[in-house]
Amino acid sequence: MMITDSGLRPTPPPSGVAVLEVKSEPESIKAARDFVADWFTENAYDDDLIYIARTVVTELATNAHRHGSGEDDPITTRVFNTDAGPVIEVLDASPELPSPKPLTLDALTGRGLAMVDLMVPAWGFARIPEGGKAVWALLHAHA
Ligand SMILES: Nc1ncnc2c1ncn2[C@@H]1O[C@H](COP(=O)(O)OP(=O)(O)O)[C@@H](O)[C@H]1O
Ligand SMILES: [Mg+2]
Repeated sequence: MMITDSGLRPTPPPSGVAVLEVKSEPESIKAARDFVADWFTENAYDDDLIYIARTVVTELATNAHRHGSGEDDPITTRVFNTDAGPVIEVLDASPELPSPKPLTLDALTGRGLAMVDLMVPAWGFARIPEGGKAVWALLHAHA
């Protein structure tokens, strides 16, 4: 389910938000993936969910790098637990919002977010006061 109402962005707990800020470059995608995989491992989530987490953050961080930021702009990855399940957020500097396309068989690109939509119970995006936006995904507590 895609959620475009910024008021429905998941609220992080008062403490316990893990944050990785890197500059926008191709290497940052692996850095974000490893950061998220380590967090899910430390929080004792099972391997199936870690696989989904790695895939989701790869799509979101790739988008932040390719579509949402200039060279050297920051990309911030945040991970935290909520009552509904773990949340991954990727923040970038661009106010431009994601524009997911339906899954079709005849396009090679433009389908990353459609695949994310199939993997998670809810995801969405919201502009943030600091400028730019956050794209977030709520994962099932158990895959
Ligand atoms: N972080 C982002 N900032 C700005 N635009 C984005 C962002 N993420 C996605 N988009 C827009 O949404 C479209 C669909 O994203 P996606 O499904 O990941 O496909 P792809 O990245 O292959 O184009 C992108 O082509 C882009 O126009
Ligand atoms: Mg993409």
